[in-house]
Order: sequence, then C-alpha cells, then structure tokens
Amino acid sequence: MSTKQNSNQSPYDDIYVKRGARPTKEHIQEILALAGNVSGRVLDVGCGEGIILQHFSDAVGMDISVKALLLAKKNVDKELVHSSATHLPFKEHSFDLLVLSEVIQYLNDSDVDKMLKDAKRVLKPSGRAIIAAPNKNCLLRPIFWIFNPFARAIVKQYGKDTLKQKLREHFEVEKIYLRPHPPWLPKFELLERRMYALVRK
Ligand SMILES: C[S@@+](CC[C@H](N)C(=O)[O-])C[C@H]1O[C@@H](n2cnc3c(N)ncnc32)[C@H](O)[C@@H]1O
Repeated sequence: MSTKQNSNQSPYDDIYVKRGARPTKEHIQEILALAGNVSGRVLDVGCGEGIILQHFSDAVGMDISVKALLLAKKNVDKELVHSSATHLPFKEHSFDLLVLSEVIQYLNDSDVDKMLKDAKRVLKPSGRAIIAAPNKNCLLRPIFWIFNPFARAIVKQYGKDTLKQKLREHFEVEKIYLRPHPPWLPKFELLERRMYALVRK
C-alpha cells in the first residue's frame, strides 16, 4: 500500500474496526453493468474493503481510511493508495473508468467540487465515471440511520435532481436512476434508496 498523502486518522477507521462496509451483491452487479466491458485502467475512489475492486482486472483502489485499506489488502491483490478523494495522486488522463461508490455523500460542497474536478483531470478523454449515492428522498432513511454507522456519518445528501445538477457542473451525465434497497421493495422513488449515475468527460 502506498501512502501518497500524509493525513491523520480518518473518522471512518472506527467504523471499519467495529463493523466494516461490504457492498451488497445487487450493488456490485449494478456497478458492473454500468461499467460494461471496460478495457483499461480503473480507479476505485473510496474503495473501502476492496470488494468492488476485486471485479476489475487492471485497477487501483484508493481510500482515506488506513483501516479500510488494510482490510482491502487481504481481499485484493491490487495497488492500494492512501489519499483523499479531493487530491487524486495520479497524472492526468490515467484512467478509463472511475468508480465513486458511496463516497460523494461524505464530502462537503467544496470538497465535492474538488473531487469531481480532479476526477475529470485523471480520466482519459474518452473516460467515464460511475457515481453511486443514497437517495435523499428515500423514506427509509431513518432506518438506515439507526442501523448503519456509515449512514450516520453522511455529510451531504442528494436526490436525483440535485445530484444530476452537481454532476453536470463537471461532466456530461449519460444516465442517472434509482434502485430499491433492499431489492425486493417496489420501484417507487420514495422507497428507492440507491442512486446510480454514469457520466462522461
Ligand atoms: C460507505 S463506504 C463505501 C465503500 C465502497 N466504495 C463500497 O461501495 O462498498 C465509504 C468509503 O468512503 C471512504 N471515504 C470517505 N471520505 C473519503 C475521502 N474524502 N477520500 C477517500 N475516501 C473517502 C471511507 O473511508 C469509506 O471507505
């Protein structure tokens, strides 16, 4: 694991020590479907335990939490970088695909802009990015808040319209849609917890 930025202990370390953060099978499938047949280098920003990273052959994982990266090291044989999403320590045009799965909600407004600007910089001209985040308008939010420490750590919530607006400031938004979570719930905006976007430079 390389540490390209010296930072203090992350607030997420504690959550990883106590509980971890494993994406569901349905979430991974959704990300992989959006990624399609990606032939090139992938950067997973906020890779957590590296579970999504496992599914890409040429990929780098990055996270602000050292504890997350130590777990990822056990799960994947990939390059892992310790850094903040606001400063991606890579040269411009380094990646074909960026995965930002369940990360944007932990950044404040100015950091989101820094992250998206830097994401654009490290993407190749034909590059794409997948952004996943919880839907602010989901009525089940309080339930996640009670049971999931990552839900309690959220800094800023987005609905479909506000996320689209934010992404449009930096990218061309190809698609953005909601999915229920748990997956057996009906497809009805107020019950759909998951939000996915695919963007291009
Ligand atoms: C809910 S977990 C999601 C993990 C994984 N991407 C997934 O979808 O399963 C959020 C992750 O974002 C990371 N994170 C939060 N803020 C970050 C930042 N500024 N830079 C990099 N990673 C960050 C946390 O350490 C944590 O691993």
